[in-house]
Amino acid sequence: MKNLVSTGIRHENKQLWVLDQQKLPQEEIWLPVPDVNTMVFIIKTLKIRGAPLLGVAAALTLAHLAETGANLVTLQHAAMLLKSARPTAVNLMHCVDRMMQVLNENIDNTNRFIAEAENIFDEDVKLCQAMGKHGASLINDGDSILTICNTGGLATAGIGTAFAAFKTAHEQGKRIHVYACETRPLLQGGRLTTWELEKAGIPHTLICDSMAGMLMAQHKIQKVFVGSDRIAANGDFANKIGTYNLAVLAKFHHIPFYPVAPYTTFDRNCPNGDAIVIEQRDPDEVLGVAGSFGKVTWAPIHTKVYNPAFDVTPVNLVTNFVSDKGVGMFD
Ligand code: MRU
Repeated sequence: MKNLVSTGIRHENKQLWVLDQQKLPQEEIWLPVPDVNTMVFIIKTLKIRGAPLLGVAAALTLAHLAETGANLVTLQHAAMLLKSARPTAVNLMHCVDRMMQVLNENIDNTNRFIAEAENIFDEDVKLCQAMGKHGASLINDGDSILTICNTGGLATAGIGTAFAAFKTAHEQGKRIHVYACETRPLLQGGRLTTWELEKAGIPHTLICDSMAGMLMAQHKIQKVFVGSDRIAANGDFANKIGTYNLAVLAKFHHIPFYPVAPYTTFDRNCPNGDAIVIEQRDPDEVLGVAGSFGKVTWAPIHTKVYNPAFDVTPVNLVTNFVSDKGVGMFD
């Protein structure tokens, strides 16, 4: 496989590496990924995350296995393991299915299989550029924009989804300010989006998730841009837990609300939001917080916990979708 480098994953000299997002921003540690079990562990523990990047990571893992001599049965088993690593982000399923279709059609052609993973990586970079261009067209000079979770280079192979719109608008010279929700429980906004905004030189402010409504009431937010993990056929979509709250608040305050996602996040086979499987995660994540500083638990350890990783926003709260194809409702 050729060398491929992005913010959160890279393949160099036949070695696959993942930037450990759980250690960011305090430490930048690259983890080697020699086999599928390591990648599945890395995905489950959110050392790599973000819907488009999960798809890219799965494709690169399969190509890496093929490159190092895995046979058909091993690849089929690896594909099954990767698809079951996380249930909500449909990009993961799409990319694995795309790889396995190429395998089935070119059963003795390892080079063709590996080339498909390279295509998936390169395509994602281009999709991000297109989303950035279309998203930035909605952003005015002087806008303050609210976002949640991390939708940047750590969530894609390129410059991101919603984050791509911020980066492109900033590079166009628009004076924007991004308010990043910290995104409890795993703090992708507080740890990762702030890290990326700082690197990009985009003015920003970190807030607790519960502060969004007050900011809107104070007329400090002109737009809300978010990512998505799966968009159902009717336009309902799943994204990081807390997105639905922002959509309701935005509607109440008459603030435009835009999900930004590549075509790989649209799921034609899923009729509506009720059919989206929502990942339930470990209670530990809510009982306290873990980081490179260690683990802090603040609740009594047997406290009953509810920890869905995503929520569903109904399509009637969406102002418009932004995708690589443009701005609009897509069928
Ligand atoms: O649990 P995560 O961190 O993988 O959740 C990520 C998100 O919810 C993002 O908003 C989504 O994947 C789309 S951004 C590229």
